[in-house]
This record gives sequence, C-alpha cells and structure tokens, in this order.
Amino acid sequence: MTRRTVRIAMNGVTGRMGYRQHLVRSLLAIREEGGLELEDGTILWPEPVLVGRRAPALRAIAERHGLEHWTTDLDAALADPSVEIYFDAQVTAARAAALRRAVAAGKHLYCEKPTAASLQAALEIARLAQDAGVRTGVVQDKIFLPGLRKLKRLVDGGFFGRILSVRGEFGYWVFEGDWQSAQRPSWNYRAEDGGGITMDMFPHWEYVLHELFGRITTVQALTATHLPQRWDEYGKPYAATADDAVYGVFQLDGGVVAQINSSWAVRVHRDELVEFQVDGEHGSAVAGLRDCRVQHRATTPKPVWNPDLPSTEPFRQQWQEVPGNGEFDNAFKAQWELFLRHVVLDEPWRWDLLAGARGVQLAELGLRSSAEGRRLDVPELTL
Ligand SMILES: NC(=O)c1ccc[n+]([C@@H]2O[C@H](COP(=O)([O-])OP(=O)(O)OC[C@H]3O[C@@H](n4cnc5c(N)ncnc54)[C@H](O)[C@@H]3O)[C@@H](O)[C@H]2O)c1
Repeated sequence: MTRRTVRIAMNGVTGRMGYRQHLVRSLLAIREEGGLELEDGTILWPEPVLVGRRAPALRAIAERHGLEHWTTDLDAALADPSVEIYFDAQVTAARAAALRRAVAAGKHLYCEKPTAASLQAALEIARLAQDAGVRTGVVQDKIFLPGLRKLKRLVDGGFFGRILSVRGEFGYWVFEGDWQSAQRPSWNYRAEDGGGITMDMFPHWEYVLHELFGRITTVQALTATHLPQRWDEYGKPYAATADDAVYGVFQLDGGVVAQINSSWAVRVHRDELVEFQVDGEHGSAVAGLRDCRVQHRATTPKPVWNPDLPSTEPFRQQWQEVPGNGEFDNAFKAQWELFLRHVVLDEPWRWDLLAGARGVQLAELGLRSSAEGRRLDVPELTL
C-alpha cells in the first residue's frame, strides 16, 4: 500500500469555517478514516500546515489535534516545495492578496467563497491561476448537503415536469451582541471589513440556482440594514454599515423565476435555516439542509379561498418525505475529497475560480441593483 501525502497550507484555521468545517470535519475526518483510498489502493493522506497570524492560537490547535506543522509566516509556508495546495478561509477582505501570493508560488488553490471582494479581483486571480497552470477550487458546500442532493435527484429524475419557480427563505436572528453575544463575527456587519449578507449569501445562491435550475440571467435586489447598531466580540458598540438582509429576484436561463430572501434579522418559523420551495407543473418540493418533501399533482389539494371559515386542510401533512437512499457525508468533506482527487488524479472538476467569480459577480450586481433601484443583466463570464 502506498501512501501519497498531500501537504496543504491552511490559512484561517482559527476562524469558524477554517477550524470546524475544513480542518476538523474535513481533513482531520479523512485522516481519522485512514486517509482517502484511491482505486489503485493508494492512500491519499492530507497533511495540514496551519497558517495564521496568532502563534498561540495555532499552537493550541496543533497540540489539540496532534499536528506537527504550523507557522505565522505565510511566505515561508508558500516557499516550501513540499506544500502543494494553498487553502484560504480567512476573512473575505484578506483572501485575494493571499491567493495572489500562493499562485505566484505555484500552489494549487482552494478557498472559501467569496473568492474576492470584487469581481475584478476574482477574475484577476482566476486568470493568474490559469496562466500559472495550477488547479483551483472554491467551496460550494450547499449542493453537497443532503436536502439539496435530494432536490437535485428530483430535478434529474424529471419529477417536476416544467419547473416554474423557486422560492428560497434563508436566515435567522443574529443577536445584536449587547444582552446576548452575537453568534457571527462582527466583521460580517461592517462594509469596510468586507461584510454584508449579499456578499456572503449571493455566491451560494448563484451556484445553487445554476447547478439545479439554470444560469442566472438577471438579478433584482433590495438590500437593507435593519439593525444599524451592534456590539462586537469585546462588547463594544459599533455602527453596522453592511446590509443584514437582501431580498432578491432572479430570472434563470430556461424561464424559471427564483426569489430568495436572505436575512440575519428574521426569526425562524420554518423547519430549517434555509428552505427552497420548487413548483413545477407535475409536482412541488420543499428542500432544506437535510430534508426534502414533495407533493405530486395527483395528491395536490384544491383549497378554496374563504377567510370566513377556519382552514380545513392540514397543508403540511399533505407532503411526502423524500428518502435518503444512502449516506450523506459532511458537505465540506465531500467537496474536499473531490478536490484532492482532481489535484492528484486529474479528475474532472467544475467548481473552479471562474465558478467562484460568478458568485462574486452576482453579489456585486445585486448590490448595484439595489443601489440603482433596477433589474440588471448578469453577463456570462469567461476568462
Ligand atoms: N461556505 C460557507 O457556508 C461559509 C459560511 C461562513 C463563512 N464563510 C466564508 O468563510 C470565510 C471566513 O468566515 P468565518 O465566519 O470563518 O470568519 P471568522 O471571523 O470566524 O474567521 C476568520 C479567519 O480569518 C483570520 N484573519 C485573517 N486576517 C484577518 C483580519 N484582518 N481580521 C480578522 N480576521 C482575520 C482570522 O484569524 C480567522 O482565522 C469568509 O470569507 C466567509 O465568507 C463560508
């Protein structure tokens, strides 16, 4: 049995996503399973090199997980020829500069979304990577979630007939930070630090809609900052300068109309933190992160509008659960495994930095649509 070690410089591992999803739930989980076994028996063994700004935090993570390699010197990590991949889960505002350094050092790139804070920077990095001949990837975790995989199965199986519309509802209450601490980092609420829900969530909606229903051709959005003041990690009040809600309407190639509300200032009266309802001629579905329910045209009730009488239909009970029919791994881990196979085996892969740039483009156009009060075309991107 041969072991093929892949050394990965991981920047931003002290953060929420970098630590929990990418280090612990993805790469360390692969190691706990004995590595990623390839068809010829080779074991792919990810070897993280932790990179960050704060030595004590990195040392603590390394010790907690028995990892040998960590450094506060990004250039030194990039100069190490045994490091093949640079991974970035830093705050969004820090990403582009680090990716540029990594591509100059000839590393393959994998990173969180958004890939940059502007479309121009996102395209520039994608082009630099293409010219350097390195492989690139962007996290598009939502399509690897059980609920959305079930939904994709319904689309692929022709359950809906002609799909008419998609309505998405995403969000939850993010505490202001005064009388209860906020459950998201404060930079998310400051435009000057790369925050804002449009830049955070539109990259997700771009690939979810694109992969399941068709490329987005127009966007119309209205952003809001519902809570203008919040309290940071140290209990200090600050002005929330970024959007904390965005209400978007999208037209898709093929005629589907999608509408997605995203908000950090909404209380949940749903089964999951995000839900998408898809209505088609032959049937409808409601998918969340994990679950998916369907209603076929043959089992669709015929309600009659009459507000004078209490509703007689048990609407929620008239849906049927879509079975898993298999195990679903952690979404981030599933995508990591495909990226590692892409790097080592040259397997096909479509979630590259051009795909990442499409997400940034949609966010940028969404913000512009809101500022200008009009619907905007979403031009197709090429490198
Ligand atoms: N795929 C997803 O579902 C998902 C979810 C949340 C966040 N994200 C993305 O992941 C990235 C990180 O988000 P997070 O919620 O983990 O953030 P976080 O604040 O928890 O972590 C940020 C990381 O960046 C580091 N960092 C580097 N330069 C910094 C600076 N100048 N100021 C502050 N921190 C700095 C921090 O030390 C930390 O390791 C963001 O780009 C965000 O858009 C993705």
